[in-house]
Amino acid sequence: MTYGASVPQNLQDAPAQAHGPVGSLGIIGAGRVGAAVARLALTAGYEVVIAGSGSPERIATFVGYEAPGARPVMASDAAAADLVVLAIPLGKFRSLPVNALRGALVIDAMNYWWEYDGAIPELNDPLTSTSETLQVFLSEARVVKTLNHMSVYALEHEARAAGDPERKALAVAGDDDDAVARVVQFVERIGFDAVVAGPLAQGMKLEPHTALFAADEDAAEVRAILDRFWQSQRGRVVARARGLV
Ligand SMILES: NC(=O)c1ccc[n+]([C@@H]2O[C@H](COP(=O)([O-])OP(=O)(O)OC[C@H]3O[C@@H](n4cnc5c(N)ncnc54)[C@H](OP(=O)(O)O)[C@@H]3O)[C@@H](O)[C@H]2O)c1
Repeated sequence: MTYGASVPQNLQDAPAQAHGPVGSLGIIGAGRVGAAVARLALTAGYEVVIAGSGSPERIATFVGYEAPGARPVMASDAAAADLVVLAIPLGKFRSLPVNALRGALVIDAMNYWWEYDGAIPELNDPLTSTSETLQVFLSEARVVKTLNHMSVYALEHEARAAGDPERKALAVAGDDDDAVARVVQFVERIGFDAVVAGPLAQGMKLEPHTALFAADEDAAEVRAILDRFWQSQRGRVVARARGLV
C-alpha cells in the first residue's frame, strides 16, 4: 500500500528530494518516538521501514495513520536498513534482535525511566552510560546516542530547514567517527543542527536528570550545556561515583 507522507509545516521550505531516497531508515519501536522520527525521515527523503514487537500486520493501521509512507516490517528486517533507530522502552533492550543488528549503524534514542521500565540497576549506574550498556549487548553494531534528549513533541515541532535562525540542535555521542559522521548527516537532514558530544561514554550527558534532557536549544546552547555538565547536580553525582572529586 502507498501512502502520501505529510510534511511538517516548519519543514515545508526544505528542498525537495528530487533524486529518490537518500538512504534507508529502519525504526524498531512503533510508538510515539518511532512514528515522529518516521515522519521526519520520510520528509527528508529516506525510505522508512518500521517494526513493533510483533508482526507487521499488528502495526499496519497505526503506521498507515501515524507515518504514512513508512512500511511496516519485522524488527529483523528493520535492522537491515542503512541506519537503524531504536525507539523501544529501554528496559526491553534485551529483546532487540541482536543477530540481525550485527554490523548495523544504530541510533540509540532510548532513555531509562525506572517508573516505566522497572528498577534495572545496570541502567542506573553512574559509572556507565546506558548507551555503553546497549553497545556491550549489541557488541557487533555501532551505537550512536542521539534523539533521546528532546521531547517527541519538540522533535516534531522544532524541526527546521538548515540555516533557519530558529533551528534547534541535538547532541550526538559515539565511539566510531564514521558512524557519528553519518548520524550527524541524518540529524541535519531531518531538521536539526548536530552537536558532537564525544565518545559514547559522554552519552551520560544526554540522559534523564541532566540539564540537556528535555531542552530544545540551539547548537551554541547545547554545546554550553554539555560543557557545564560536571558543574551540574547530575555531573557531581557521576563525578563522586567515579572518584573524580
Ligand atoms: N516520549 C518522548 O518524548 C521521548 C523522547 C525521546 C526519547 N524517548 C525514548 O524513546 C523510547 C520510546 O518511547 P515512546 O514514547 O515512543 O514509547 P511508546 O510510545 O511506548 O512506544 C514504544 C514501542 O516500542 C515497541 N516495542 C517494545 N519492545 C519492542 C521490541 N523488542 N521490538 C520492537 N518494538 C518493541 C512497543 O510495541 P509493543 O506494544 O508491540 O510492545 C511500542 O510500540 C523510550 O526509550 C523513551 O524513553 C521518548
